[in-house]
Formats: sequence, structure tokens, C-alpha cells
Amino acid sequence: MKYLLTGGTGYIGSHTVVELLELGHEVVILDNLANSSVKVLERVEKICGKRPAFVEGNICNRDDLDKVFTAHQIEAVVHFAGLKAVGESNQIPLSYYHNNVSGSVTLFQAMSDHNVKKLVFSSSATVYGENNVSPLDESMPTSATNPYGQTKLMIENILVDLAKSDSDWSIINLRYFNPIGAHASGLIGENPNGIPNNLLPYVAQVAVGRLAELNVFGDDYDTPDGTGVRDYIHVVDLAQGHVKALEKIDAHNGCHAINLGTGNGTSVLQIVESFKRVSGRDIPFKIAPRRAGDIATVFAHADKAAKALNWQAKLDLNAMIEDTWRWQSNNPNGYE
Ligand code: NAD
Ligand code: UD1
Repeated sequence: MKYLLTGGTGYIGSHTVVELLELGHEVVILDNLANSSVKVLERVEKICGKRPAFVEGNICNRDDLDKVFTAHQIEAVVHFAGLKAVGESNQIPLSYYHNNVSGSVTLFQAMSDHNVKKLVFSSSATVYGENNVSPLDESMPTSATNPYGQTKLMIENILVDLAKSDSDWSIINLRYFNPIGAHASGLIGENPNGIPNNLLPYVAQVAVGRLAELNVFGDDYDTPDGTGVRDYIHVVDLAQGHVKALEKIDAHNGCHAINLGTGNGTSVLQIVESFKRVSGRDIPFKIAPRRAGDIATVFAHADKAAKALNWQAKLDLNAMIEDTWRWQSNNPNGYE
């Protein structure tokens, strides 16, 4: 099968490319390199012995999309492309609505016109908002607390309407919990621009000496050690969830939301302790005020993915941290 991966040179996309190529599928990537490096392609080739087709282009540009759909017989699209920094989305909301929402509508219109009506979309646990109590399940009400989250929710809602309007569409909205880790080869991994916003890349850069100390955002939450609890999931498990979604998409006519999480919660201090043990490095930290918009505990109810996709996460926290550390210590400056 030939699949189009928008945003395929990014963190989650590149790991999904590897899983698909290793199963013998063909992959076409469309990415504007806004938050990724073209060097990913060489690394993917080193891992799989194959290189995906790559088109440098923008999902907001209809000509770029038409060229891809005309040149390639695409079976289904996995739509990763988007901007993803919550803080930045508060500062430049219009860029987020344009890139994520308008770009997605342009993509879906092009898919419809080229009669490609199978789609897996990168949604997020952020659509559960701040009022639901974990474990979060797919039937709970959704809401958003920032422009980034709004874009994910809007795109999910657009896809629900699209599937209602035309029964030929098969759409799976995958709601990711907290992806971390890297490919076991240490050749591809997360490569954030500037100072990382998310916990794991921040801790990894403290361990490698690029950042001086971690700020732990709050130790007075109603959790076992007072620090925030999240459902961390290995990016390779997540990538395999996309493969399962593509395999099962024909059985899922309509639009369906499915969580990709482990169902387990881990605190910030547990992450720090595990990272220290795995890396053998000190991780200096200080307790800082809570970060605006954070909630105490977020973890998934993971049954729907098991039933609908025959998928469950296999890799434990130790593997997630070992692989993060291998990637970070082999590539202290990312792909540069
Ligand atoms: P990433 O930034 O590494 O990858 C996104 C890719 O999309 C990048 O390569 C970027 O260059 C590309 N891109 C952005 N705008 C584009 C455009 N207009 N046209 C073409 N390409 C464009 O991010 P990621 O962590 O791999 O996330 C992939 C998807 O999953 C995103 O939609 C993100 O919102 C979603 N998601 C990520 C997380 C997470 O923690 N990483 C959690 C939940 C959901
Ligand atoms: C954040 C986003 C969320 C997005 C997710 C994955 C916010 C408010 N939420 O979620 O929308 O879907 O990333 O990209 O930004 N922490 C520290 N110090 C740090 C960084 C984080 O203590 O330097 C803590 C946080 O308070 C939290 C935990 O670590 O308790 C995880 O944080 P993070 O990795 O940013 O993920 P989320 O908060 O789940």
C-alpha cells in the first residue's frame, strides 16, 4: 500500500515512516520542514535500507497537494502536519488556526477531489479539556483551554461532519497521550527547536549538560508525590498504533476517536528518578510555581484501542527513558 504522511519528517511521523517501510509499504512524505530536518530521511534509510518519497510542500497550498495526489496513487493519509506548541499558540493564534485548521480543510478538500477518503488524524488528549477525571475515555465531553487545543478539537469536529456528509469516508482521530522515547537505533528522535516546553526533552537536555536545571512546575497537586502525573507512551508504540489504524481503517467506516495511551500515570519526580538511574547523570531540579493551564493528573482509558485496533502499548517506562537517553547522548544537538 502507498500512504501519504503529512508532517512525516517530524517526531512522530518519522517513527511511523520506519514502521510502515519495515512492513513493506510505500510512503510519501509531504512536509514544509517548519519543525523538522530533511536529514531525517538519511537516518530513516540507515534504519530500514529504504528511503521514503519526500515532497517539500505545505498542506495550506492546494497546488502542492494536487501534485502529490496526481503523482502518487495514495491509499490513505496519515495527517501529522501541524504546529504544536501550546504557549506559542496563545501568542500567535491566527498562525495556529491558519496552519492547522485551514491547512487541514485544504488537505481534506484535496483528498475528496482525488477520491482518497481514508484518513488517520493526529489528535491529542488535550481535547479532554480540564474538567474530566482520569482515566479519560472517548465518550467524555471535549473542550479546549488554548488555541492549539482548539485547533485539534475543531479538526475533529470537521471530520465528524465530513463523515456524516459522505459515507465513503473512513476516519480515525487518534488522541495521543504523552509521546516520549526514540527509535531503539538512536538514529531518530525528538528534536525540539529552542528551549523545550515538554518534560522529557527538557530533562534529557539537563542530563546532557545543555540546560542547567529542571523547573518542576508545582509540588502541591493532589497526587502521590505532589507533582503532575501523565500517561507517557513510547513513540514506537504510538507509531505502531498508526499502522494498526491503517490496517483496520476499512472496518471503521465513519469517524471514530481512539485514545493511544498506556493507561498508567507517572509523576514528574518519578521521571526525574528514572532518568537519573538510566543515564547515570545528576538531574538538578528546583520546585517552581505551577504552569498555567496544567492539571494534576491525566491518563488514558486504553480499552477502545485494544478492541477496535487490536493494539496496546508494549514498551515500559524504562525503555522509554533508555531510548530517549540513547538518542540524546548520541545526538546532543539533534540532527545538526
Ligand atoms: P513535529 O513538529 O515533530 O511534526 C510535525 C511536522 O509537521 C513537522 O515536521 C513540521 O515541519 C510539519 N508541518 C507543520 N506545518 C506544516 C504545513 N503547513 N505543511 C506541511 N508540513 C507541516 O510534531 P510531532 O510531535 O511529530 O506531532 C505530530 C502531530 O501530532 C502534530 O499534529 C501534533 O499536534 C500531534 N500531537 C503531538 C503530541 C506530542 O506530544 N508530540 C501530542 C499530541 C498530538
Ligand atoms: C503539554 C501540553 C498539551 C500537549 C502535550 C503534548 C501544556 C499546558 N499542555 O502537556 O496540550 O498535548 O504537552 O505535547 O503545555 N513539567 C515540569 N517542568 C517542565 C516541563 C513540564 O515540571 O519543564 C511537568 C508539567 O507540569 C506536567 C508534566 O511535566 O506535569 C508533563 O508536561 P509536558 O511534557 O509539557 O506535557 P503536558 O503538560 O501533559
